[in-house]
Amino acid sequence: MRRFLAVFGLAVVLYAAGPEPVVVDTDSGLFGDDGAALAMLMRSPQRVAVPGVIITPGNVWPGQGAKYTSAILKLLGRPGVRVYTGAAGPLIHTAAMAREAGGRWAAAAYMGAFAEEAPGAAAASRNGGAVEFLIREIERQPGGVTILAIAPMTNLALALRLRPDLETRIKRVVFMGGALATPGNATPAAEFNFWFDPEAARIVLRSRIPEKVMFALDICNTAPIRKAEFDRVAAAGTPLTDLFREDLGNRFPGFLKDPAAVGYLWDSLAAAYVLDPGFVTRSETRYLDVQTDWGREYGAVIPLDRTLAPDATPVRVMQTLDFARVFELYRGLLTAR
Ligand code: RIB
Ligand code: CA
Repeated sequence: MRRFLAVFGLAVVLYAAGPEPVVVDTDSGLFGDDGAALAMLMRSPQRVAVPGVIITPGNVWPGQGAKYTSAILKLLGRPGVRVYTGAAGPLIHTAAMAREAGGRWAAAAYMGAFAEEAPGAAAASRNGGAVEFLIREIERQPGGVTILAIAPMTNLALALRLRPDLETRIKRVVFMGGALATPGNATPAAEFNFWFDPEAARIVLRSRIPEKVMFALDICNTAPIRKAEFDRVAAAGTPLTDLFREDLGNRFPGFLKDPAAVGYLWDSLAAAYVLDPGFVTRSETRYLDVQTDWGREYGAVIPLDRTLAPDATPVRVMQTLDFARVFELYRGLLTAR
């Protein structure tokens, strides 16, 4: 018995010391903050193991997101990592609703995939299996899996609705989304990931996932990147930083066209937290929900009425950070050879 306990104890220690399994849930465009987040994790094999990447509609539709993500994985020398698509669109929100809201109140500052025509069913179903993959990974490593959610939360919400018993078997969700005391970047009330699929974000915030780590716009706005930071990364001249240069330089935020442009680390902050949580200098714990009533506030973060979700766990809201420390992590991993 004693021998068994010793071996079991050793196995637990080894497991705990090994790389942390992280499922990346992304809506990557050509590169941007999603691509940087993915690169940071893939280049930290001693800290994290990424068993697969799931694609959720957001910045782009899933077929396009899967292509962009596969291309980034190839550049990173990891073409074997599986990429899964799942939901073809948000749970409720549609491009037509977003246009209607724009006409009635004010046009969204950023529409993401809603600005593009949705692909036909055949294209939308390429790859497939995101929700099933997520469920399988959680089942395979109960209590061990971190979900890095850097897109709208549609696939995660679907998994939780299919298998509510898995909520407490997820280690944690580290996510970029929401705006608390700062204006949104999609509408004045809502941050893009929460605005694109507010119902999904509500399901996740009302869930029993043991740890929810939130990078809302409030903290992200304190980590802008400007031309000087862009230049430091782009100067590396590697295939990966050439893609970074093309996307951030010529597309968004367009540093090569407008040297005064400002970008944000957004999703890369959430990825950095998985690798080095010490760059966050203050956080607070709150019970949060998402406004899903149709109106100007659609997608806004609101306090949780706990009588509606008595089992919901709170959210750890990241508040302040050490920019030099997190930028060095970002720069070092992106420019690695
Ligand atoms: O609001 C920022 C979020 O939306 C990030 O996930 C970024 O990728 C953008 O699309
Ligand atoms: Ca994203």
